[in-house]
Amino acid sequence: MDADAIIIGAGACGLMCAVQAGYLGKQVIVLEKSDKPGAKILISGGGRCNYTNQFASAEQFISANPHFVKSAFTQWTVEDTISFFETYGIQGKEKTLGQLFPDDKNAKDVVAVFTSICEDFGQEIRCNAAVNNIEIFDDYFKVSYEKNGKTVVLTTEKLVIASGGLPIPKMGATDFALRFARKNGLNIIETAPALVPLTITGKDEEWFAQLSGNSVFCEVSNDEIAFEENILFTHWGLSGPAILQISSFWRRGETININLLPNHDVLALLEEERKTNGKTLLSTLLHRFYTRKFTDALGKFLPLTKPVAALTKAELDLIAATIHHFKVKPAGDKGYDKAEVMRGGIDTSEISSKTLECKKIPNLFFGGECMDVTGWLGGYNFQWAWASGFVIAQNL
Ligand code: FDA
Repeated sequence: MDADAIIIGAGACGLMCAVQAGYLGKQVIVLEKSDKPGAKILISGGGRCNYTNQFASAEQFISANPHFVKSAFTQWTVEDTISFFETYGIQGKEKTLGQLFPDDKNAKDVVAVFTSICEDFGQEIRCNAAVNNIEIFDDYFKVSYEKNGKTVVLTTEKLVIASGGLPIPKMGATDFALRFARKNGLNIIETAPALVPLTITGKDEEWFAQLSGNSVFCEVSNDEIAFEENILFTHWGLSGPAILQISSFWRRGETININLLPNHDVLALLEEERKTNGKTLLSTLLHRFYTRKFTDALGKFLPLTKPVAALTKAELDLIAATIHHFKVKPAGDKGYDKAEVMRGGIDTSEISSKTLECKKIPNLFFGGECMDVTGWLGGYNFQWAWASGFVIAQNL
């Protein structure tokens, strides 16, 4: 055998798995298609890497089995992530909503933690090594990859597939794990881009495009869930954290509801204004909450130039509906080129939640994004990647 285990993918999960295996005295070889390890870590959080979330629990994950992550999250907690990075000189700083970023360091330093520990333990990371075949034998695996036009074949008793999901193909994302699963009769939960901007086309396109660059604090919801964060108008539709969050729950053809003034009641505000200063124009009142550009754009729907005292009952109803129940029917999403994660993946019912070993193929483990485990925006996906890497290492 060439190593105690072979790990396919030097991403967040594969790197954590290699390091944890090192602590346990197990020698691994990590095979990475790209020319460097941790490519997605490097671009994460705008290069700053939102490496965990203080509030991470099973509740912020989408999966056909919402309980699946619980065992891994008990074995490797958020506190474990925080103290792991602290040990290697990375202190966490909360940006917002529990999102932890390295305080005075960045994503490069996060990757360097893993590469330097791997070096210390003699864990080999082979880059430019795209695995193209796995043969399964009774008690071992043959793993093949191409290097400089030659096929290299390695053997191992334990194999880890941590080759990630479909987002950002130009950075090396592949459907390797999904193809392997399909070929070997493992069920796959339908995949789709998630944490992805949404597009608007047709008659509304122009209205959204004119607001490109404007950001508004909103509550964005559908029948399932609501998120309170900023939305960002772009020349092709909507982005920003609240939109990325709802995109993971959005299905094509569905309308989303945007409350443009959460935590306020626009009718109560108008009522108050009518009592104290009825001559205030509707535009003046709305401009207290929005940019001039956004306020003016609302003129397509609302009688902005009317004094608030002159508004009719029908107009008040229209204002309340527009401000608190702004309906948007996205045409689609920006696809895997712009998605942060993939929804769906290898069905968790094929995998033991305690060990992450494949039930049908002993000694084969899956971790990270290739599985049907999708976190919300905000450091949750890395928490899953670290936790799954840790759990697998305990079982190699
Ligand atoms: P990951 O994609 O990290 O690694 C898989 C590796 O396998 C890749 O390096 C790939 O090249 C390699 N590979 C694929 N096929 C192979 C093959 N056949 N042979 C060998 N290697 C192969 N999350 C978060 O929590 N906080 C954040 O701030 C962000 N920010 C962010 C920004 C952007 C732009 C994106 C696209 C994503 C994020 N994410 C994030 C999500 C996060 O990056 C993602 O959830 C994890 O990287 C998933 O870790 P994995 O190890 O599963 O896959």
